Amino acid sequence: MYEQISHSLLNEILDDLKPEIRRQDLRHFYTRLGANFYAIHNLFYHLYGQRDDFKPQMLRLVETLARQYIHRSRELKNLDIARENDHNWFLSQQWVGMALYSAGFAGDLQSLADKIAYLQELGINLVHIMPILQCPTGQSDGGYAISNFREVDNRVGTLDDLRAVAQEFRKREMLLTLDVVVNHTSDEHEWAQKAMAGEQKYQDYYFIFDNREVPDMFEQNMPEIFPETAPGNFTWNESLQKWVMTVFNEYQWDLNYSNPAVFIEMLDVILFWSNQGADIIRLDAVAFLWKKMGTACQNEREAHLILQLMKDCCQVTAPGVLFIAEAIVAPVEIIKYFGEDAIIAKECEIAYNATLMALLWDAIATKNSKLLSQGLKSLPDKLERATWLNYVRCHDDIGLGFDDHDVRIVGYEPHAHRRFLVDYFTGVYDDSLATGVRFMHNDKTGDARIAGSLASLVGLEKAAALDDSRAIESAIDKILLMHSLILSFGGIPLLYYGDEIATFNDYSYRDQLDKANDSRWVHRPTIDWERAELRKKQGTIEYTVFCALKKMIAIRKETSAFADFNNRHLVDIDNESLFAFVRFDHNRPSERVLVICNFSAEAQRFDLQRLKSSGFGAHGQLTDLYTGKSPIHFKDQMVLKPFSFYWLSEY
Ligand code: GLC
Repeated sequence: MYEQISHSLLNEILDDLKPEIRRQDLRHFYTRLGANFYAIHNLFYHLYGQRDDFKPQMLRLVETLARQYIHRSRELKNLDIARENDHNWFLSQQWVGMALYSAGFAGDLQSLADKIAYLQELGINLVHIMPILQCPTGQSDGGYAISNFREVDNRVGTLDDLRAVAQEFRKREMLLTLDVVVNHTSDEHEWAQKAMAGEQKYQDYYFIFDNREVPDMFEQNMPEIFPETAPGNFTWNESLQKWVMTVFNEYQWDLNYSNPAVFIEMLDVILFWSNQGADIIRLDAVAFLWKKMGTACQNEREAHLILQLMKDCCQVTAPGVLFIAEAIVAPVEIIKYFGEDAIIAKECEIAYNATLMALLWDAIATKNSKLLSQGLKSLPDKLERATWLNYVRCHDDIGLGFDDHDVRIVGYEPHAHRRFLVDYFTGVYDDSLATGVRFMHNDKTGDARIAGSLASLVGLEKAAALDDSRAIESAIDKILLMHSLILSFGGIPLLYYGDEIATFNDYSYRDQLDKANDSRWVHRPTIDWERAELRKKQGTIEYTVFCALKKMIAIRKETSAFADFNNRHLVDIDNESLFAFVRFDHNRPSERVLVICNFSAEAQRFDLQRLKSSGFGAHGQLTDLYTGKSPIHFKDQMVLKPFSFYWLSEY
């Protein structure tokens, strides 16, 4: 949009740019800057317009964008243009992701490069390499307490190793996802160290208070994230003799985004990693970016404005790069991280579908789909150029962030129901073979979350120990059932490393001082590559799970109805054990797939006549894409085995 005030400021900025910037060929940069400048100016003004240094900060911002553009390689610039020309590229069903710790998966980044063939064997073409940046030994929060935003941690390798991995991925058309931990730094980060040494400039990067007056006001409304190990949201710092805001762990200092210098620094970091070859940047803990007294300091409007500004700026320098919002918040809040008032995503193109994840676990524990159906019915439609990251497990705990209203509608009392789920997955009940571990019990609220590997949570670890072949089979069925959903739901499925060979809990964290009090380590495995070899040996658990997932992934990639273009509708079924939805291809009306899942431990039947009224089964034979056979049926009654699914298509 052309608007006089923004444009005259832009003219001024262009005149003031340093000669070394002006001398460059910046044609594409300038057209994008022109297109986005009105929005950038408005947002920056909204956030920082009241400051005396607004104009110089605005100039610094544009210089940062230009400098990073100059550093962006020709190859990446070409990729940007190709993606601009095919702007819905990431909505395709071709993408299938995996999140992994390079240390746990392969040892280090160099060895990760050697494992690409394994990922490709499974069909993975998007890899989220969990944080690899420098962080202190011990107090690292699994890599999310960063002490240097531009250096790879030497325990996993070097910047060159990372560039080599990125290069290799590009060659094989695989996408690289990297984290930028935007909300906080480690207390060992240079900025925190300088703040501790008394430099005002860096004290202004954080929230630091002389006494408890302001912190106490904040505390009235701020929930605790790690109540067992890091209660409260502020930490007394001995060397400063002051209180520092530390929402997560005591050694993670929250960054102060009301300071434009912080915004520009972090944007520079995002662009730096984009220029190292990241296709997707996962923005960590975005819900927490803005702190406002009297609120929970989550999901504030300004947090959204910051993300919009980051996106508008990133589009100028590296438009091919996508953002993932890691906002594990209430269902109605998550969707806002796509950007609220636009058809195209204005904040992050991708967001974790924590709602679906938690609902899937609910269906597994209750053996019915009541809450799953209700919860998804209430999930608002997403924007057009935006997509979900659908997952079953990740490196974090399972939070039970359902909407209480939905929980009540299906007949449960929210508090008691959450308690039941935690108890179920930690194996309190006799009928549950789950061996999960409780994460962060909050004495004040009674809340808790769940840790544990997928295989252990569905009871496979215990079933194997008991050598109970029926229970083993049933646990494997649950693993496949959950994956059948994330692979067909719409969005990018993100598998978690180790799950493809049904890796069990790893209890060794309990003997390690720096990990023992964080039960999430129970599901951050070191892959046993000898065990992984069993994926080639028929009859083993590894073989069964790996081959099934591999097959599902291959079928997904061939099924255009599984691309994500708001092309799903839920099917109302009169049987609470079952959950069903139809996926279709807008361009090829005959390409429709009915996904139907049975969460019950009993076989269920389903009347095909019901499908016929919605046009299914009227024209031809129904075939399950997964088995290649027609569904089991007798006359019009179709049968679903316990914990099973169909991907039904009509031929
Ligand atoms: C994100 C990460 C989590 C970490 C937290 C604080 O939620 O996924 O592992 O503990 O941020 O950085």
